[in-house]
Amino acid sequence: MTHPTASDHIDNVLHETRVIQPPAGFAAQAKVTREEYDRRYRQSLDDPDTFWGEVAGELEWMKPWDQVLDWQEPHARWFVGGQTNLAYNALDRQVERGLGGKRAFVWEGEDGEVRTFTYSELLSQVKRAANALLALDVQSGDRVTLYLPLIPEAAIAMLACARIGAVHSVVFGGFSVSALADRINDCQSKLLITADAGLRRGGLVGLKANADDAAAKAPGLQHMLVVNRADSNPPMQEGRDVWWHEALAAAAGEHEAVALDSEHPLFVLYTSGSTGKPKGVLHTTGGYMVSTYLTMETAFDLKDDDVFWCTADVGWVTGHSYSVYGPLLNGATVVLYEGAPNHPDWGRFWDIVQKHGVTILYTAPTAIRALMRQGDEIPAKYDLSSLRLLGSVGEPINPEAWMWYARVIGGGRCPVIDTWWQTETGSIMLTTLPGAHPAKPGSAGLPMYGIEPAIMTRDGEELGPDDGGLLVIKRPWPSMLRTVYGDDERYRKSYWGEIPHVYFAGDGARRDADGYITVMGRVDDVLNVSGHRLGTMEIESALVAHPSVSEAAVVGRPDDIKGECVVAFVLPQGDQTIDPAALRAYVTREIGALARPDAIYIADALPKTRSGKIMRRFLRQIAAGKAIEGDTSTLEDPSVLERLAETDAV
Ligand code: WT7
Repeated sequence: MTHPTASDHIDNVLHETRVIQPPAGFAAQAKVTREEYDRRYRQSLDDPDTFWGEVAGELEWMKPWDQVLDWQEPHARWFVGGQTNLAYNALDRQVERGLGGKRAFVWEGEDGEVRTFTYSELLSQVKRAANALLALDVQSGDRVTLYLPLIPEAAIAMLACARIGAVHSVVFGGFSVSALADRINDCQSKLLITADAGLRRGGLVGLKANADDAAAKAPGLQHMLVVNRADSNPPMQEGRDVWWHEALAAAAGEHEAVALDSEHPLFVLYTSGSTGKPKGVLHTTGGYMVSTYLTMETAFDLKDDDVFWCTADVGWVTGHSYSVYGPLLNGATVVLYEGAPNHPDWGRFWDIVQKHGVTILYTAPTAIRALMRQGDEIPAKYDLSSLRLLGSVGEPINPEAWMWYARVIGGGRCPVIDTWWQTETGSIMLTTLPGAHPAKPGSAGLPMYGIEPAIMTRDGEELGPDDGGLLVIKRPWPSMLRTVYGDDERYRKSYWGEIPHVYFAGDGARRDADGYITVMGRVDDVLNVSGHRLGTMEIESALVAHPSVSEAAVVGRPDDIKGECVVAFVLPQGDQTIDPAALRAYVTREIGALARPDAIYIADALPKTRSGKIMRRFLRQIAAGKAIEGDTSTLEDPSVLERLAETDAV
């Protein structure tokens, strides 16, 4: 599959000129000033060894590193020779600094139940869980898949893995049986940690049932550790399945964190790429720890008394870096919420902010737009005065949603930061610093320390101000992915091989004269649905696997709430009839509800070039209800487009 050029399909719609200064009250108290940012940013590029050495030195190392960075393009090793433990730094270190009684997690279930864990309590749970994993013969370097609702046990399990050097692979609880089985098999996990069920919009999501079906397709799996979340009494397989609470009760309470090499693998997290197979993005211990620690404090201006709430599920990288690792490394208090934003009604987020005194809220544009649509009266019913800073992540935020977020939720006193990063980058790459930089709604802003971005053409030519091109990063950073699990060739090709000697992010962007970068969206065959990446090829493979479908093409269509939604063009197999409802159910079962097509066009042919390549550009126009524009002369049969344009979506 060849990549279109950036200008091919980036709608350069944002011509936003507003500049919003940091609210004076905020700026006066902020940790980082403009001068401080300029000085440290300069240092981070001019003398990275000193810069990163100082940041890493704020954390605990069981053995100091010999070398800050060893860069053998495209492979980086950070803090070479050093040994540390992320769970130790996140928990034991906080208890040793006297934060044992401070709240680490305040968790709220969808049913309203609240559970609080101090740093000491969390540490003792993690120690027990670590011993329970060891008792199930999980050893350093072994992979463990987590398939859980957003309950405290998810974070406890992640930290327990990190503590013993096991590599966690969290699979979002909304993913299907096949998606789960593929991910278990790809990294050959020997243990699956799941729950009987999760709560979603008042109903139960049967995770254990999915886990059982996935286990049947995953021969390497040895055990299943099952959290009792919902008392739903699932069948337990003798010899294979173990209750979490029983395993922890039987485990010893003491556990000493293991000294791990800085480059010891920490986790694998699967994300969509432009081919059908999800990529297992691999992160390692030391570098990921240092970057999440630094960005958490700097981007969020984090103070001791903050109550930080990142609404992402732990199944995504945002939940890894900013619900678990980043905040705990800084000794922060974190709110976790299990359920849907509209259960029992659209006031739920604001109720949580009010009840727990949330000071920093970090959420996605898709949620902001959905909440905005419910009207200002709903948030007006709640006391949101505890909030002091708002963050956005996952996709470009449209200026209208940005302004609403700042005005209605932030009451005009909270800065809004728009943070650009990826599963692969591990931590925030671009943002404005809330007390130091004016914001430009719609533009993510400036590079974090140590990050050297550029806008380039596909040939590696750097573009000047306001020219749209490809977003790249010109040097390695500590939390950069190390490889694609089990497929280093794919790592080389997708990230450092696309444009020579730079990291290619897959996004189109432009930079203005002030250095602010506006990210315009993906330039590869990846959709961004509700802030989540979905590969078009992956959905197409699922569609053609259905017996009634012979060929399929998937494109994105702009959507007011989701950002983009999935539109599928399908051709029937022989004389079969395609049942759209059955096809939607099939995609949901094969991948997950996120991938379900909003619109399906049943066609008799797809627009192809003479060499057989599907011209998605035209399909995107049809999906958006636009007139066909552009050169159709390379099409094998241009009449296909006319027929498609007359077809109604189902
Ligand atoms: C892709 C990464 C780590 C964030 C959660 C998603 C898009 C992310 C922004 C932003 C414009 C953004 C990009 C990126 N994206 N944040 N602030 N402005 N686009 O992580 O699933 O790895 O997706 O999300 O297209 O490449 P992900």
